[in-house]
Amino acid sequence: MDKKKKMSKIKVLDLGGQYSHLIARRIRELAVYSEICSFDTPVTKLRDASGIIISGGPDSVYGINTPHIDDEIFSINIPILGICYGHQLMAYKLGGKVKPSKVREYGIAKLEVKYHNTILKGVNSKERVWMSHGDIVIKPPKGFEILASTPDCPIAVMGDKKRKYYSLQFHPEVTHTPSGTDILRNFITDVCKCRPTWTPKDNLQVIIKEIKKKAKDNNVFFLTSGGVDSMVAFTLCTKALGKERVSGLYIDTGTMRKNETEILRQTFKKYGFNRIRFLDAANEFFSSLENVYDPEKKRKIIGKIFFETQLKTLTQLKLSGKWILGQGTIYPDTIESGGTKKAALIKTHHNRVALIQNLIKKKEIIEPLSNFYKDEVREIGKLLELPEEIIQKHPFPGPGLAIRCLCSHTDFCIQDNIDEEIHNVFPKVKLKSAVLPLRTVGVQGDSRSYNHLVVLFGDSEINELGDVSTWIVNNIKQANRVAYLISSPNFDLKNAKIKKTKVTKARIELLREADNIVTEFMRQKGLWDHFWQFPVILIPLSLHGGEAIALRPILSIDGMTAEYAKIKFSVLKELSDKIMTMDGIDAVLCDITNKPPATIEWE
Ligand code: XMP
Repeated sequence: MDKKKKMSKIKVLDLGGQYSHLIARRIRELAVYSEICSFDTPVTKLRDASGIIISGGPDSVYGINTPHIDDEIFSINIPILGICYGHQLMAYKLGGKVKPSKVREYGIAKLEVKYHNTILKGVNSKERVWMSHGDIVIKPPKGFEILASTPDCPIAVMGDKKRKYYSLQFHPEVTHTPSGTDILRNFITDVCKCRPTWTPKDNLQVIIKEIKKKAKDNNVFFLTSGGVDSMVAFTLCTKALGKERVSGLYIDTGTMRKNETEILRQTFKKYGFNRIRFLDAANEFFSSLENVYDPEKKRKIIGKIFFETQLKTLTQLKLSGKWILGQGTIYPDTIESGGTKKAALIKTHHNRVALIQNLIKKKEIIEPLSNFYKDEVREIGKLLELPEEIIQKHPFPGPGLAIRCLCSHTDFCIQDNIDEEIHNVFPKVKLKSAVLPLRTVGVQGDSRSYNHLVVLFGDSEINELGDVSTWIVNNIKQANRVAYLISSPNFDLKNAKIKKTKVTKARIELLREADNIVTEFMRQKGLWDHFWQFPVILIPLSLHGGEAIALRPILSIDGMTAEYAKIKFSVLKELSDKIMTMDGIDAVLCDITNKPPATIEWE
């Protein structure tokens, strides 16, 4: 290829850091294409990059099972930027020295810039940066200059201008480092000489090329839920391969939202998606979920049934030609499912169960969006001119209401509270508390947690509860989520219980109705589009023999982090009163936890 026309590309080697994926995203935001590669990618696959970034990670360069990179990357004459663990790894590999630091730096640190040379161009002499490390570089490799330091980290930035190698102990990719974007821009434009020409439109061309390459002469049988991810992915495949070579399947799991299947039939008809078939598989899903209480087991079973149903349908249809499967997986599905070599499993997304992982290994599946985040997918959807009603639809998880229907294998009394702890720290707060013998999934540090729900009750303004909630999840070890009891603030939860429950059609029906009340109510108030997502959950918290509904309104950009949406108490109360008119519902709660430490979904 003509070198001048070669597209600029930055490859990020993922050493398992919490923010590795964010680096690639930030670069794309700077109009240069970037993709994540596994840390052990051989150098032959890195030669086409304009620059390489080595990410952070949880390890120490001297550890036993520490990830290492292909040393050859230092002999191919491509600019390299090391970040955090990547900074230490560069020092170690190139002849410098790394050792554990006496003072570990977590959070904000004060950077003093010594040389405003290329990579630190435009950065203030004293700058706030965000750190998270235990080891430090104590001697730079030959040829490197120390460019900046912090009080506890003498070599916070180092660089070898001649070889175009730079490294930073702090994280430029997080928003807490205000000059982070400038530093990344300096690297990609001044050092790597990338042309900032990447536009979301280029995404389209690259994705389409990639689909053609991966599909070879196969056709694609696509699993479509009607959500933005699968509809954008389906449309991309159709664009790449032509209508005849792409067929879709919508599986009704019986755990969809109210009237969802009917609404989708109309939407598909209206916009000409006439190559998507509908299949009712509710019985298969319900019968396989009998007696399953554990959320992770639920997810694995649901993912397996999706896969088997898709494959069975494909076989039964006897379509002519060779067909492989396709789905609208996005990047968070992969990372949360522990899908990169060093990442922890938070939860198994339905499109990342073992059978699918097998197909990925064999390269027998098409997932055009697996490197993108929800907001990027929406941008691609706009470029494809998909209708707003598809693009802006709230996300809905593949496993549907089944995961939002919490189960308990036995009855539990409610005994614990943290009233004293709360009142010691917040003497003015008159709330009572209950630590429920009910756990939900969260994401704490880089790992999954499955911890207890704390419910606060008593008269209070819900908007004042943020500090209490943050304090609880940071200080009460067994808690990862906090909710406020809206419906009956004066009911003492000591008199309630967690009752034995499983997934049944009747419970899903109850949840579906409550979910619908919430959607309709928020639409009427003109608030629905204000939320990024608004899961509604059925929990076996029983006050008078029934169960409880939990509301989870959140604000987010990409679903990776989220804050709970603060809704006026009077509005919440009105909504709660509506839900309380339902038979079988004893209480309504509202989640007041951010992500992290709680995930968006309750399960
Ligand atoms: P969490 O609960 O992990 O959710 O904070 C992040 C986003 O992912 C959605 N989600 C899923 N989407 N299949 C999906 O297609 C799944 O298995 C799945 N699990 C969670 C969730 O609704 C939220 O938008």
